[in-house]
Amino acid sequence: MLSLSAHSMGAIPCVLSEKATDPAQQVVSENFLGDLKDLDTLKAFIQHVDVLTFESEFIDCDLLEKAAGRNTKKIHPSIAAARLLQDRKTQKELLDVAKIPTAPWLLVHDAKAVADAADYLSYPFVLKKRRNGYDGYGTYIFKTKKDLEKWNTKDLSDPHGFIAEKFIPFKRELACIFTRDQKGHVLQFPLVESLQKDARCYWIKGPIQHPQFLTWSKKFSQLLKKINYVGTMGVELFESKDQLIVNELAPRVHNTGHYSSNSLPMSQFDAHLRAVSGMSLPNGSFSHEGFAMVNLLGSEKAPKPQWISPTDAVVHWYGKTENRTGRKMGHINAIGSSPNVALKRAMSALKGFKL
Ligand SMILES: Nc1ncnc2c1ncn2[C@@H]1O[C@H](COP(=O)(O)OP(=O)(O)OP(=O)(O)O)[C@@H](O)[C@H]1O
Ligand SMILES: [Mg+2]
Repeated sequence: MLSLSAHSMGAIPCVLSEKATDPAQQVVSENFLGDLKDLDTLKAFIQHVDVLTFESEFIDCDLLEKAAGRNTKKIHPSIAAARLLQDRKTQKELLDVAKIPTAPWLLVHDAKAVADAADYLSYPFVLKKRRNGYDGYGTYIFKTKKDLEKWNTKDLSDPHGFIAEKFIPFKRELACIFTRDQKGHVLQFPLVESLQKDARCYWIKGPIQHPQFLTWSKKFSQLLKKINYVGTMGVELFESKDQLIVNELAPRVHNTGHYSSNSLPMSQFDAHLRAVSGMSLPNGSFSHEGFAMVNLLGSEKAPKPQWISPTDAVVHWYGKTENRTGRKMGHINAIGSSPNVALKRAMSALKGFKL
């Protein structure tokens, strides 16, 4: 989606990934196939492009820094910001220092520390991999002591370690996209509600009104300034007793912002590309009556997914070659006179899919 945006903005998108069948490789003419963990591959790619960005935070920041040498200024968000946010420990510290509410947490290294964390946080509590977690892989919720006893502590062997955090009894999950340009303008996208099923985003709808959001987002913009963040960031939130509590930050375009391609004057992808390539963003926020997005989650049952293209919603199909259970294969965007009308439209389009 970033590549498609870049093309329509008049740029020439170049993609570095491992396989020619990767979704982004399918839509660009400048294909660089290679290992993102290989120094020479990274060096050659960085030298070839004017601006470099990433759509996954699972990058090796040390290697990227080494490969970039004097070219680190081409990279947005900066390697420093990526490094800070890709690790839950430093991300949590950043939020705590900025006094932006997030679930209380502590670092855990071994089974004893997990048991101590359970005593300190009390049940239920959550264990999360410090790095490389996604779609719930690397997140474990322990409702009772029995859950913890049943848990295989071998999972603790992840080299980057874990944090334990308090379970937040949320009313609903919310999310918001922010994009900050190089001059410091912050474009704030509408607040949305997201429904997660099996720790995966199932749908989002918006805009959502929340009495604390304006004050909260001003404070959050200050955090973006502090780390001189450039580009789009996804913020996942819990609404609990009318409080906004940060679940996690993602230094990239985000699934909960995909709706923006078909409902706002500027999508999160366009905004990101404008920011990273030095163009300005409008300062402020966008609004729309109602919009929704439903993820198309795969299943092994349909090796060849089929669908009837809806007439009143927009399908974004990623072209992933392997259909796996729960894998994000595409999404549907819809608009309407309210968030619920838009969601109904997107859900009705979903019925035409055999996935
Ligand atoms: N502290 C918490 N309290 C209550 N529920 C939680 C907590 N942390 C995580 N969850 C639930 O687990 C889901 C997945 O957790 P989290 O967002 O941390 O994992 P992830 O794998 O990084 O997800 P993503 O794919 O969004 O990157 C959340 O959306 C939420 O439903
Ligand atoms: Mg999440």
